[in-house]
Amino acid sequence: MRVLSGIQPTGRFHWGNYFGAIRQYIAFQNEHEAYYFIANLHALTTVRDPAVLRGYTLDAALDLLALGLDPNRATLFVQSDVPEVSQLCWLLMTGTNLGLLERCHAFKEKKAKGINADAGLFTYPVLMAADILAFDSNWVPVGEDQGQHIEVCRDLARSFNHHYRCEAFVLPEARITVDAAKVPGTDGQKMSKSYDNTLALFEDQKQQRKKIMRITTDSRPMEDPKAPEEDHLFQLYRLVAKPEQVEEMAALYRRGGFGYGEVKKALADAAELYFADARARRAEYEAKPNEVYEILADGAGRARKKAGEVLRRVESACGISYRK
Ligand code: TYM
Repeated sequence: MRVLSGIQPTGRFHWGNYFGAIRQYIAFQNEHEAYYFIANLHALTTVRDPAVLRGYTLDAALDLLALGLDPNRATLFVQSDVPEVSQLCWLLMTGTNLGLLERCHAFKEKKAKGINADAGLFTYPVLMAADILAFDSNWVPVGEDQGQHIEVCRDLARSFNHHYRCEAFVLPEARITVDAAKVPGTDGQKMSKSYDNTLALFEDQKQQRKKIMRITTDSRPMEDPKAPEEDHLFQLYRLVAKPEQVEEMAALYRRGGFGYGEVKKALADAAELYFADARARRAEYEAKPNEVYEILADGAGRARKKAGEVLRRVESACGISYRK
């Protein structure tokens, strides 16, 4: 299978990004041809300060490498280093129905909040489709929130193939992790930078402990039992604790007679342990940014080769390559 996914450098990565997506990237790199990229063109729709965007882009690469992305197994690149994707985006844009984009959640939500949407935000799903289709991707590991975008991508690919009576595009499939499709944030809603409820992967440990101690909980009396799977604190604990610890905690919930304070403490301890190796690896990469830039340049070279092949095929299908 050919696997591809992207992540926006719009801030420091959080548990939702890791358990919903990055963990799958790492698992797939060993058995499949994998492409992973930092979506800096997409990030421009929200980050409009050049120094900040540059910083987040390097941070994204450091985080991915620290978390176990292996550049010898997977191709890691920055979106803007592969111009073929933007070229392909235009070819797709010409066949994109406006109604399809108007129905997309991300755009609808911003519009509903009265945020002035620009053409970049509106056409965001088309660029995302180009990202995916440029690599003949079969599988796209993402969290639940990206499912609709993958459907749009499939629609665009299908209608292009149909219109030009060709098989220029391969239809991709979303791969959504069952146990972490929608990781909750500190307030119980979906963890998201825009809700300010994230636990960042590599934030200061003291700071993170404080955040964990402030996670919102209900006001159930200590002695009452509680269904663990319905509690966002438990849902977070399950991600970082060892299986036997998870079982013990679930039994405690069902039995009752515990306070949320002890769960929070256990969560903070388990999280520190879970990310300790990655934290150490991140510090190593941080000390050698030139090596990271080389990894990205090498990845871009490999990615351009594949995307170039696909672009030529698509240009030929729609008459852009005009020499007979
Ligand atoms: P982004 O940058 O918002 O998020 C990156 C990945 O993290 C997942 N994720 C979550 N999963 C579970 N629970 C959560 N609380 C949570 N929060 C975030 C996202 O689903 C995503 O998989 N549009 C994409 C980036 C992109 C892309 C692509 C992805 C651009 N081109 C091509 C795949 C293929 C985005 O904004 O993800």
